Amino acid sequence: MSAALADDLLSTLSDSQKQLVQQLNSEECGQSHLFADWPGMSPQDRTAVATQLEALDGAYGNGGLAGYVKNAVKLLENSRKGVNPLDGWEPQVPEGAAFEIGTDKYKATEAKGLEELGSIGFVLVAGGLGERLGYNGIKLELPTELATETCYLNYYIHYILSIQKKYGKDGCKLPLCIMVSNDTRAGTEALLKANNNFGMEEGQISIVQQGSGVPALLDNAAKFSMDETTKMVITKPHGHGDIHELLYTSGVAKTWYSEKGIKWLCFFQDTNGLAFHTLPLMLGVSKELDLVMNSLAVPRKAKQAIGGIAKLTKQGSDEVKTVNVEYNQLDPLLRGSGFPDGDVNDKETGFSPFPGNINQLLFQLKAYSDVLERTKGIMPEFVNPKYKDEAKTIFKKPARLECMMQDFPTVLSGDDAKKVGFTSISSDMCFSPVKNATSDGVGLQQKGTAPGVAATGEADQYGAFKAIMRSIGCQVEDAAEETHEGIKAVLSPQVVLKPDFVTCPAEYSEVFPSPDKVKISSKSSLVVSGPGSVVIESLDLDGALVIECPEGETVTVKDLTVKNDGWVREAADAGSPEYIRMRGYRFVKKETAKFGPGGLT
Ligand code: UTP
Repeated sequence: MSAALADDLLSTLSDSQKQLVQQLNSEECGQSHLFADWPGMSPQDRTAVATQLEALDGAYGNGGLAGYVKNAVKLLENSRKGVNPLDGWEPQVPEGAAFEIGTDKYKATEAKGLEELGSIGFVLVAGGLGERLGYNGIKLELPTELATETCYLNYYIHYILSIQKKYGKDGCKLPLCIMVSNDTRAGTEALLKANNNFGMEEGQISIVQQGSGVPALLDNAAKFSMDETTKMVITKPHGHGDIHELLYTSGVAKTWYSEKGIKWLCFFQDTNGLAFHTLPLMLGVSKELDLVMNSLAVPRKAKQAIGGIAKLTKQGSDEVKTVNVEYNQLDPLLRGSGFPDGDVNDKETGFSPFPGNINQLLFQLKAYSDVLERTKGIMPEFVNPKYKDEAKTIFKKPARLECMMQDFPTVLSGDDAKKVGFTSISSDMCFSPVKNATSDGVGLQQKGTAPGVAATGEADQYGAFKAIMRSIGCQVEDAAEETHEGIKAVLSPQVVLKPDFVTCPAEYSEVFPSPDKVKISSKSSLVVSGPGSVVIESLDLDGALVIECPEGETVTVKDLTVKNDGWVREAADAGSPEYIRMRGYRFVKKETAKFGPGGLT
């Protein structure tokens, strides 16, 4: 039994700190090792540890640190015993709809969604460390592509302001909430400040911050890992599931619904340049199927390493939940539920019938906010220790409890639990994150998996604009693949259509009224931006062209032929900035034609 800590060791602590320290030191909490060296430490050092513990205690909404220990012991025990949380649940293909760009079905659903676009709020989860990418700054400051070097945060905000202007009602400001962490807060705030919030008004952006992580765990008794020098607890990130609790505690979700007239909530990630082409489509699906939660999904090949969205029904009851099932759990789940072949492709489509989750989520805000009131936004947690021994008692490295934002359906109840579905479309339209270091991406690409590196994120961005233009009949050639730093990507032609010119496929036919008269050669670069009105009637481009139109003015491109040396790529050198080195190439803008209200310059 661990004796209570002596009063003289606690003399500089506040009453609440004293109570917490004694609680953690108790046999029940099992953290006495944290205080074993306290007699030899200075009062300042002891206070520093107590202050950290108090912060961790306050930040863990599911019962403070004592609750964390209790939850961890239970989850670690289940993990050791190999308890499958999905036992007793039977999978089915969930409700949802799959689309291809350019089809009548796409257009009809998107049109329904456009009616809702003016009442959407945005939640950007940007607290991740980005360890796999290994970039030295925050991911949001990275350029989405090199043709314009627009950074991710600028692109996201510009998009939101553009739909606000085009679809917003009665001067409504569409709000943005950014979740940051200790690691990303300063960088995110500095980026916003240096750019005047990229045009957003001060009160339009809310910043919420994740706690500084949760204690790393050394063993099945949930003993906290401690830095031997400072005696501080070592923490690890708790995961993006924290966003729901923060939207509750900050009051953001409630205020947006009750005071700002926001009806929908879109969650998106820090480096997906394709995040928004399909947003009206998703809204259309949510509206048509009355979905409380709608996940943007991509067709998934059987056994592909992304989670599959599945509707699970509890055996012997009518309890249902539509959730993301991790790919390594999907196969055994299917095999155990009357699908002897497990995770296999559908013969007709060549894809798994379970759509692949990409973690872009759309909620009905009223239902979402009501659930937060009931649950305080606490998500279920999981633990994933890697064991050294067969008895599963020794961890290879410290574990921790985590939670994920896509697990929200597990806290839905009643009818809401049935209103969860998906919108599926090929990933070249909606998902190309920049997550991995280029050297790691090479191996992934060789295995036939999306590498998720800076060069492919860039290429896919041009690719989506080109695909939408082609879907309405524009003639856009593709160049051959290039290889930089071992990564293969089609980087030419570069097409960047800014959100103040077009925000979604539905608008392309208005700005390209005679698409068969728009021709872009494989070596070209085309950048078009408003905020004034631009219409491209006929264009033959073989080089680089930048079209810009100031507010209140009009630009009509008609019978324009541009041929120049354009933009080419050269190998990056060691002295190049990091965002160039991670691509292995830079742009050399040899010749650029500019077109504005006064014509060609
Ligand atoms: P990622 O899977 O990209 O993870 O997160 P990461 O933590 O950023 O990168 P690694 O794993 O260290 O390489 C998906 C999204 O969730 C956010 C990320 O910022 C990204 O937008 N995220 C992740 C958070 O906001 N908080 C977290 O604790 C983890």
